[in-house]
Amino acid sequence: MRTIVITGGTDGMGAALARHFLDAGDRVVVIGRSRAKFEALQQVPNNRAEFIAADLSSVAESRDIVRRLRSRYERIDALVLAASFIRQRRHVTAEGHEASWILFFVSKYLFVTGLADRLGAAARPIVVNTAVPGARADAIDFDDLGMSRRFSFARSNAQQRRANELLGLLATGHDPRLAYVTWGPSGLVRTGFAGEVGPAMKISAAVLGTLVGTRPESAVRPIIDLIDTPVPGRAAYRGAKKRPLVTGDHDREDIARLVQVVEHELG
Ligand SMILES: NC(=O)c1ccc[n+]([C@@H]2O[C@H](COP(=O)([O-])OP(=O)(O)OC[C@H]3O[C@@H](n4cnc5c(N)ncnc54)[C@H](OP(=O)(O)O)[C@@H]3O)[C@@H](O)[C@H]2O)c1
Repeated sequence: MRTIVITGGTDGMGAALARHFLDAGDRVVVIGRSRAKFEALQQVPNNRAEFIAADLSSVAESRDIVRRLRSRYERIDALVLAASFIRQRRHVTAEGHEASWILFFVSKYLFVTGLADRLGAAARPIVVNTAVPGARADAIDFDDLGMSRRFSFARSNAQQRRANELLGLLATGHDPRLAYVTWGPSGLVRTGFAGEVGPAMKISAAVLGTLVGTRPESAVRPIIDLIDTPVPGRAAYRGAKKRPLVTGDHDREDIARLVQVVEHELG
């Protein structure tokens, strides 16, 4: 039986994946904030589904979840990183960090690095990181990762997407057998779009989602195929379509620098 860990597995695409893999007979560990949503996932409660409540915009909680996963599971076959809470404005957490940077990158970094040996124990390990690939190679502001000076939604989004692509270099460098995929849907998906956004973004997401959005169950089909037949190494996908990885002149230096700055900031 495979063990599949899904952050953001209580809603949207993460929930569609959780339902699919539970139906397929896998053990699924769902991480999110709402136990009620988790319970609604399962038609019939079964002992292959586990829920761990966590706010992944907290560094302490992200670390704690990694510790708990490590103590419970010797092997993790697939790690899906799909937690999402869209903030249009800069928000500082009680820990003093910029919330989106922690949720969309630092927490993922802690999962990928902290669970590396558990993934390494699987025959065909895979990480699917739902960070839309294709951000510019120079999108990271190394001197101000929390964007205290020039925050904008677009800059923050591009920075975390680029950082997540670079994270694949670190992960596959550590374990060349690992498949590491940065994945975004091919178009809008009809999900809850959890977040704190202005009325314009909220209305356009709701209207467009209803008019042209794909159902989460359909949108995640390519992720299911990737998890069922993982290919070692890094890859980028939009829907089922493979995209070229963005490569910059200094990718290896950039990921080393990113790790250094993040570790320094985490203390
Ligand atoms: N939907 C789209 O069209 C679209 C387009 C491009 C990219 N994506 C990406 O695809 C991924 C999935 O998106 P989605 O639209 O399916 O998401 P969604 O329906 O908004 O669901 C978000 C999930 O994240 C969890 N979550 C939110 N804040 C959290 C926190 N602080 N700590 C832990 N879990 C948290 C939620 O669980 P609780 O409610 O239980 O906390 C929920 O399970 C995301 O990475 C998103 O950026 C989506």
